[in-house]
Amino acid sequence: MASIKLGIVGLGLGQWMVETVKKIEGAQVVAAAENMPARLDSMGGAEAYEKENDLRLYQEADQMMDDESLDAIALAVMPKHRRALIESAGNRGLPMLIEKPWAGNVQIGRELVELCHSFDAPCQIEFPLRCMPAMVRLRELMTGNLGKGWMANANLMMGWCPPPESKHWDAENHNGLLNECYVHLFDTLAFLLGRPKSAFSFGGSFRGSPMPDAAAAVIEFESGASASLTCGGIGAASVDGGHLLEIWTENGLARVSGRQWLPDTLEWALREAKEPTVERFHAPERFTLMEYNMRAFFNTVRRGDPVAATPEDGLIATAMAMAIQESIITGNRVSVDC
Ligand SMILES: NC(=O)c1ccc[n+]([C@@H]2O[C@H](COP(=O)([O-])OP(=O)(O)OC[C@H]3O[C@@H](n4cnc5c(N)ncnc54)[C@H](O)[C@@H]3O)[C@@H](O)[C@H]2O)c1
Repeated sequence: MASIKLGIVGLGLGQWMVETVKKIEGAQVVAAAENMPARLDSMGGAEAYEKENDLRLYQEADQMMDDESLDAIALAVMPKHRRALIESAGNRGLPMLIEKPWAGNVQIGRELVELCHSFDAPCQIEFPLRCMPAMVRLRELMTGNLGKGWMANANLMMGWCPPPESKHWDAENHNGLLNECYVHLFDTLAFLLGRPKSAFSFGGSFRGSPMPDAAAAVIEFESGASASLTCGGIGAASVDGGHLLEIWTENGLARVSGRQWLPDTLEWALREAKEPTVERFHAPERFTLMEYNMRAFFNTVRRGDPVAATPEDGLIATAMAMAIQESIITGNRVSVDC
């Protein structure tokens, strides 16, 4: 196939995608749709952006899909704008890369999974972490020498916490910071430990948020594995990061570290080993952090590889967020219901 022609809907996070695709051979962003003129103004105006990035801008996503011969589309919009766009792209048979969080709640998440299944086109949810080389290698080790995961300890904190009036707290939209941001962490744990069963969590609205803005949780998995985690918006941007994940397995231990969302080091050892093995990996840049996830998506479009993260994976991560949130509020252990 010649270079993959991608269209992007939404130029918030979508601007990061435009920059990311410039790093990937065999793919180009030929068009983007953005229906908020003020956003285009804040970017220096439509014409300047088109010229600078060698793409065509549209106000209507449907118009873009009709006028361009796209090979694939990325839907970089908030959860409440997704359904209509998934329908439009699915009806045109376009492979879709869909932003996280999958949905604002489990019910809507299930409906969207069914909607995606009603089309032939592949749908990948954007979970960059599971596609980064350090994580891919860890999972490979866990299907080999290290064996399956027994226990994990994970952390992802950020200094960023949206103000109380932000869309991120809207129950019809992201439905809270834990679902908005930390599905990245929940998905990583499900990627390594399988399907989650229940969650028990403490936490609170430490920064005056309308919903919990940080959590300390324990997750039980169907395999019998368990994970403890801390996550939320109570970090400090200048020093966020470091420890991301430790995992104890049938045959040993692995530790993943690096700056926050960008793991670059994997240290691991079999239980009886005298020395650990330390492997270092390329980590993407902060604002092009979806590089490996997009590479995987293009391989799906180009040669039919299975999608790196399915709509079901998106639903599972949102169900974990909802269970953790509910557990903080009720004080109960909550089933991860998906
Ligand atoms: N993968 C990541 O690491 C990462 C990072 C940040 C945000 N996100 C996710 O990306 C999604 C978008 O976040 P954001 O911060 O860019 O949101 P945003 O609302 O700031 O930007 C989305 C843009 O899409 C436009 N839009 C919506 N519907 C449209 C349509 N039908 N046609 C044309 N334009 C349309 C809006 O006008 C808006 O400018 C969210 O779900 C967020 O959680 C992911």
